[in-house]
Amino acid sequence: MLNSSKTALITGITGQDGSFLSELLLKKGYEVFGIIRRSSTPNTSRIEHLLDNPSLHLCYCDLTDSSGICRIIRDIRPDEIYNLAAQSHVGVSFDQPEFTAEVNALGVLRILEAVRTAGLSHKTRIYQASTSELYGKVHEIPQSETTPFHPRSPYGVAKLYAFWIMKHYREAYGMFCSNGILFNHESERRGETFVTRKITKAAARISLGSNEVLTLGNLSAKRDWGYAKDYVECMHKILSHSHPDDFVIATGETKTVREFCTASFERAGIELVWLGEGLDECGIDKATGKTVVKVSPEFFRAAEVDLLLGDPSKAVSELGFNPRKTTFRELVEIMTDADIAKQKAVLEKQGTF
Ligand code: NAP
Ligand code: GDD
Repeated sequence: MLNSSKTALITGITGQDGSFLSELLLKKGYEVFGIIRRSSTPNTSRIEHLLDNPSLHLCYCDLTDSSGICRIIRDIRPDEIYNLAAQSHVGVSFDQPEFTAEVNALGVLRILEAVRTAGLSHKTRIYQASTSELYGKVHEIPQSETTPFHPRSPYGVAKLYAFWIMKHYREAYGMFCSNGILFNHESERRGETFVTRKITKAAARISLGSNEVLTLGNLSAKRDWGYAKDYVECMHKILSHSHPDDFVIATGETKTVREFCTASFERAGIELVWLGEGLDECGIDKATGKTVVKVSPEFFRAAEVDLLLGDPSKAVSELGFNPRKTTFRELVEIMTDADIAKQKAVLEKQGTF
């Protein structure tokens, strides 16, 4: 159904979720404005295919720049804001805790204040990209909207501030501020330093002849992995809901990093056998006997989130969310197949395939 009169502002439009959400909103007839950061090399590869769309408008800004945010919101007067911009890498947040807080915590406050001071409190609906990292050292399994938070990283702590400042503006000023507490969601557009994409890229390259060894950290961490393309639909549903609220979006299934590896290599045609324990654990290619996966402390974190498993019942009943739309196996296949196709294209260009 077309929604031709609506205007949406997406922060983080160049990211994984931003690119899928722009596609969705453009298809629904929105005028989409996106905030991009100035960079010395192009950072719009994920939205390259949308750049000619006359309903897509990009403006330079940064979540650390209050005046820019105020100006853009005052000028656009958006019906909806999707705040997806963040320093989104949990591991990196241990190295850049202050920057992470500036963007992931105070960035949200800047948006809320810009909306309020522009007199848009009762017009603009705001979605905040909250996260299962809030549960951290989990207090119950599975985690739902009522599970207490216990973040385990500077990223998680910053996102906790963001979660509560959203709730505060909802309660104090009656603003339509909603948190989507999204569990891990991946895709063929996932950044290459997140574990799933790191795995699918390596599985593809190794299956096509590379001699590299995939080096990972904690293989036993468990995550509830869904497909990003499905999850952005929930972001839109959350802002289209009758009232502002917070929702867990998850599949209700959890797998270890090791299981993701096994499934991705299998899809790439390599049967993995796991040998050893702890730092000595490695994944062997059963057919050749070669080590293709090993462990390094370089990728361990100062504090780890061991197990995430979401309970999406509320989103299922109130938003009509289907947590089984893309299964774990299908997700692994989509990502691995995409990386195989990309690697084949690289090799073809080099004349080696
Ligand atoms: P992503 O691919 O890393 O994209 C992050 C986006 O934020 C990029 O467009 C990035 O711009 C932008 N950004 C970073 N710092 C910024 C700043 N200071 N000012 C303006 N823009 C900035 O992340 P994602 O996976 O799409 O995730 C989207 C959001 O959901 C993030 O807030 C993340 O924390 C949250 N989240 C993600 C997951 C998940 O599993 N994917 C789960 C729960 C919550 P550049 O392209 O210029 O770097
Ligand atoms: N990145 C990475 N690299 N993680 C590794 C590696 C590795 O080499 N080896 C093991 N892991 C483990 C991490 O320690 C973590 O337990 C798990 O794999 C997943 O790591 P990431 O893929 O980096 O994602 P994340 O769960 O820390 O964070 C993602 O999901 C959050 C939602 O729960 C990000 O998208 C966050 O922005 C998001 O909020």
